[in-house]
Amino acid sequence: MDAAGASIRIAPSLLAADFARLAEEIRDVEDGGADWLHVDVMDGHFVPNLTVGPAVVASLHRVARRPLDVHLMIDDPWRYADAFVEAGAAVLSLHLEVARARPRDAQSLLRRLREAGVRTGMALNPDQDIRGIEPFLAELDLVLVMSVFAGFGGQRFLPEVLEKVGVLRGELDFRGDVEMDGGIGLDTIGPAAAAGVNVFVAGTSVFGAADRGARIAELRARAVAARS
Ligand code: DX5
Ligand code: ZN
Repeated sequence: MDAAGASIRIAPSLLAADFARLAEEIRDVEDGGADWLHVDVMDGHFVPNLTVGPAVVASLHRVARRPLDVHLMIDDPWRYADAFVEAGAAVLSLHLEVARARPRDAQSLLRRLREAGVRTGMALNPDQDIRGIEPFLAELDLVLVMSVFAGFGGQRFLPEVLEKVGVLRGELDFRGDVEMDGGIGLDTIGPAAAAGVNVFVAGTSVFGAADRGARIAELRARAVAARS
């Protein structure tokens, strides 16, 4: 599949959901047309925030009907990757900032994840050069371009990151999924789609809407319109 043909997916970020009612929140966005469910895992070290671990992901997996897209914002993905695979992650993304410190180990982890049937991803913060991802590209099914600095929901979209998607789709000729995360909403999804993004994480925009299904449909419509 070429980049332009990669299918559009809307992935609501559960970080913006009501954590006391996660099963209902999941059902609501699944009924509303969500393609993937984005789960933000933070360790209080790689980012200054703490969220959920493998036990919660396993519980989510029991109620979810859509694939769990797990974004690891943690310093030691090697220690926890197997637990997230067992918990039912369909997509597992680690950060370039940690992979770069142990490139050989990162490549072997990615290979091992693929062998386990998991879709591999690598995320990078707005201050990271996209070319840093090159040594890992052959092992990646997905590249997650952060459009805010990882750590918190509800931040403002940084349009300067769109240029990286052009490099990824052009110079680096990446044909897999390109995901964007942070500040995606009705005004920013179009430019992201036009740049070559096909998987859109949206926390505040989806869970903050009174009608989540209508919001997901509108986001999708704008992404489709921007690509054609
Ligand atoms: C930020 C997380 C995002 C966050 C996005 O560190 O990776 O997934 O939930 O939230 P919004 O869509 O509100 O910017
Ligand atoms: Zn995320």
